[in-house]
Amino acid sequence: MPRSRHDRSTRWVCQQCGYESPGFYGRCPSCGAWNSLVETVIVDRPSSSSGRHRTSVHAVPLAHVTSAGERRLPIGLGEFDRVLGGGLVPGALILLGGDPGIGKSTLLLQAAGNVANRIGSVLYIAAEESAEQVKLRADRIGVNADQLYLLPETSLTAALDVAQTLKPRVVIVDSIQTVFVEELASSPGTVSQVRECTARLMRYAKEAHVPVFLVGHVTKEGVIAGPRVVEHMVDAVLYLEGERFHQYRVLRAVKNRFGSTDEVGVFEMADHGLQEVGNPSGVFLEQRLHDAPGSAVIVTLEGTRPILIEVQALTSPVGYAMPRRTATGFDLNRLQLLVAVLQKRLGYRLGHHDIFVNVTGGLRVVEPAADLGVAVAIASSFTERPVRDDTVLIGEIGLSGELRSVSGLDRRLQEAASLGFQRAVIPPLSERNQVLTSRLPLTVVSARTVAEAIRLSLAEASPAVSLQDDVEAEA
Ligand code: TYD
Ligand code: MG
Repeated sequence: MPRSRHDRSTRWVCQQCGYESPGFYGRCPSCGAWNSLVETVIVDRPSSSSGRHRTSVHAVPLAHVTSAGERRLPIGLGEFDRVLGGGLVPGALILLGGDPGIGKSTLLLQAAGNVANRIGSVLYIAAEESAEQVKLRADRIGVNADQLYLLPETSLTAALDVAQTLKPRVVIVDSIQTVFVEELASSPGTVSQVRECTARLMRYAKEAHVPVFLVGHVTKEGVIAGPRVVEHMVDAVLYLEGERFHQYRVLRAVKNRFGSTDEVGVFEMADHGLQEVGNPSGVFLEQRLHDAPGSAVIVTLEGTRPILIEVQALTSPVGYAMPRRTATGFDLNRLQLLVAVLQKRLGYRLGHHDIFVNVTGGLRVVEPAADLGVAVAIASSFTERPVRDDTVLIGEIGLSGELRSVSGLDRRLQEAASLGFQRAVIPPLSERNQVLTSRLPLTVVSARTVAEAIRLSLAEASPAVSLQDDVEAEA
């Protein structure tokens, strides 16, 4: 089969100034940038002056363009479809990133099985594993579909040829770092290979109107290994996150040309693959110890969906050593800021205490509405007083120790009430929110400052513990 009607050759192209050369230079002869030359496939298209008839190109009135939104293919995994914005859009190129071993192949194999059973054939290009390995995983998760085709192949050209004949409804490339095109001398996973492979898959997806998934591994720094460039080229970037040794996984869209980017899907890694978690709040609070100091319940909003999560803090005296601040699932800089506010505004002497903060379930909380929960958890551990068992905490903390309002308050409170919480400590209410919250079956307590909120959140001190040595004065 002829590879292409165009002539292809490779050049080295400077990423800074666009200088082209037939060979490699460590330093660009034109702009002087180091290591900026990347091997690139150049396609010489037959020019229009060559006398050959050009395929005509014409613009289309916007009103005549049919919207792809109406033709979505639902995968049938509710949590996955939610993140995609309601299903797959024909011709979309979607990158699924995540740490090695987090479950990317498992998720896509499950999705592939569903699509194959419900919609039509799926081509799974296994460039990392043999067909036997994929089959073993498929047996484990109970995926069995006649329409699911496996192709253990690392040559992208060969794989795309198969796709042209098979005409699948969905293509999966596992992974973009292990496929290659023959024209480039560099090895798979390099910037030039990954970029060229992505560009060709993009062309295939748009021409064949087939959604294509790319798996991409993430390096320790959290960047899709090798080139970030893939993120810019694709239509959607999804991340599968979670702590490797926790069972929960969160699927998050960080870019989505066909939907919103703030929806998340929650899964649990079980023996038979990833199970959807329809009620994350209940699951995340399952193992909470009641009346334990250092534990607080927050309500975070992931997209349109409120989720209740337990935050734990532990403070422990260190004597003269440098105190440590460690955060799992929470931003370390934000933690430092909250500790500084607690020191300055409440007079807590945390300078000689290690502080550890942990968001349970392996989740990552990024929104500032979690501030109050983290601050109260630290205060609770520091003073050895548990947080009241019936109370959830919502609020952003400012540098002056003031509580600031957060978005989606009514939805958060609704979720807390439906999980049986009777009380919420929150920032001062606007008039509109006062009306909204008055109808909820839980008591809403507003606090203006973090000091006030802590006083309202902690249970009575047990008489055995004296706080006089640690707390100078409450602001
Ligand atoms: P995998 O999908 O291979 O990860 P990735 O493609 O992101 O590298 O998942 C690997 C991990 O998932 C592996 O450590 C085993 C675990 N796992 C389960 O716990 N249950 C299962 O049913 C499957 C298939 C995998
Ligand atoms: Mg894999």
